[in-house]
Amino acid sequence: MSTPPSLASGPEGPHALRPLLDTVLDALSEGARARGGPLPAGGPDAVAARMREAVGDVLPDNGDPGALHNLVRALAAGATDPSDPLCAAHLHCPPLALATAADLAASALNPSLDSWDQAPGASELEALVMGVLAAEVFGAGGAEKGCVALLTTGGTESNQLALLLAREAQGAGVRLVHGANAHHSLPRAAWLLGLPEPVAVPAPAGVLDPAALDEALNRLPGPHLVAATAGTTDAGLIDPLPEIAALCAAHGARLHIDAAYGGGLLFSDRYRDRLTGLDAADSVTLDLHKLGWQPVAAGLLAVSNPDDLAVLHHRADYLNADDDTEAGLPDLLGRSLRTSRRPDVLKIAVTLKTLGRSGLGRLVEQVCDHAHEFAALVHDHPGFDLYDPPTISTVLFRPAHATDAAVAAVRRRLLTDGRAVLGRARIDGRLWFKATLLNPHTRPDDLAALLKLVEGNTPG
Ligand SMILES: Cc1ncc(COP(=O)(O)O)c(C=O)c1O
Repeated sequence: MSTPPSLASGPEGPHALRPLLDTVLDALSEGARARGGPLPAGGPDAVAARMREAVGDVLPDNGDPGALHNLVRALAAGATDPSDPLCAAHLHCPPLALATAADLAASALNPSLDSWDQAPGASELEALVMGVLAAEVFGAGGAEKGCVALLTTGGTESNQLALLLAREAQGAGVRLVHGANAHHSLPRAAWLLGLPEPVAVPAPAGVLDPAALDEALNRLPGPHLVAATAGTTDAGLIDPLPEIAALCAAHGARLHIDAAYGGGLLFSDRYRDRLTGLDAADSVTLDLHKLGWQPVAAGLLAVSNPDDLAVLHHRADYLNADDDTEAGLPDLLGRSLRTSRRPDVLKIAVTLKTLGRSGLGRLVEQVCDHAHEFAALVHDHPGFDLYDPPTISTVLFRPAHATDAAVAAVRRRLLTDGRAVLGRARIDGRLWFKATLLNPHTRPDDLAALLKLVEGNTPG
């Protein structure tokens, strides 16, 4: 009888992993070389055909010992590489090698955060790190009140949880009032949770207009949940948080701030002030797989009042039986709506501790500096219009006099040719290229090359 495949955990795990990691690392290099750019060339049909050919029979009768090498190579060859300086479309960061290595340990050990007996150490690490990050969001006052944070799969799950907590605190009639600039996951969460039709308040300058919010809160029957954004998806703008917080206090509205993107500014002495008002929120979304250089998933929902989380309490006898809890086994089920859950906290903890506040702050400042440098190049170029100086690390620009259709076509041509990954944002009624700069290693020459590439592909 043949022996079963080696396991990743246990005393033999590291020995089994070492040669496999060599295989993976070689395949990653080969795949990246085969790709030769920020994304695979040829467009969806060609990429799909190459992938299908590389994979072959997904479930062969007899196993294929080359599968690890071949599939990793194929995935790397078919990847969009967020570490390529010409890849600057989305809030899709290049993960730190350090965090990725820690993530491997998380996979090897495979603690599952739904019960203490599956994750004795990881559950404590999670509680510790989440407490520290919640205090980072809510400050010393928040820490005194016992503010907490939950680890999520990202901004979407955090926003859903925020709406769920609001519904449980304020009742099923709570109406979401959000800026027209808010992330789509917020109104979608209202739909998912069966809340009244959300109301979008105008954001004519890209940020939520406080006067329009005041008017909406006066006009609409409550209770209200106001959702503000710190770091909009399209432009990286930050809503006027102190004014919005004051309006919420005056109207008795609950406040959620989606800082999925902008939350990372907390680490920078230079930029932290831009988040003034964040600590007035009842809940805050923060994504460390955006401005935190973590591999997906590394989302957080920070909650100012720990009592809000009581509604997540849930009993499942096999995971948190009363007698186990009474005997002192920590009850983890109330930390999430998920059951099995990865220890995503490990890579976050390793990153926070290795880089420290100053190291993370420097990364934030580097990408913000790059955005300013790129905006200056655009501004000084007679052939381009700049939307606005960047607030975080997003730059919106378009060729002067180009039609929206031309902007869209240039973006697609660069994608199809495998030469650059730029985003798109409709703002001001016009379509803009969106460059979201999240790579701290980008150099001034890369930024110049990006602009030149767009220029060279824009019809005269
Ligand atoms: C402001 C904002 N909130 C939430 C999200 C959703 O985050 P995720 O993709 O991690 O679910 C995004 C994604 O870009 C975002 O920009």
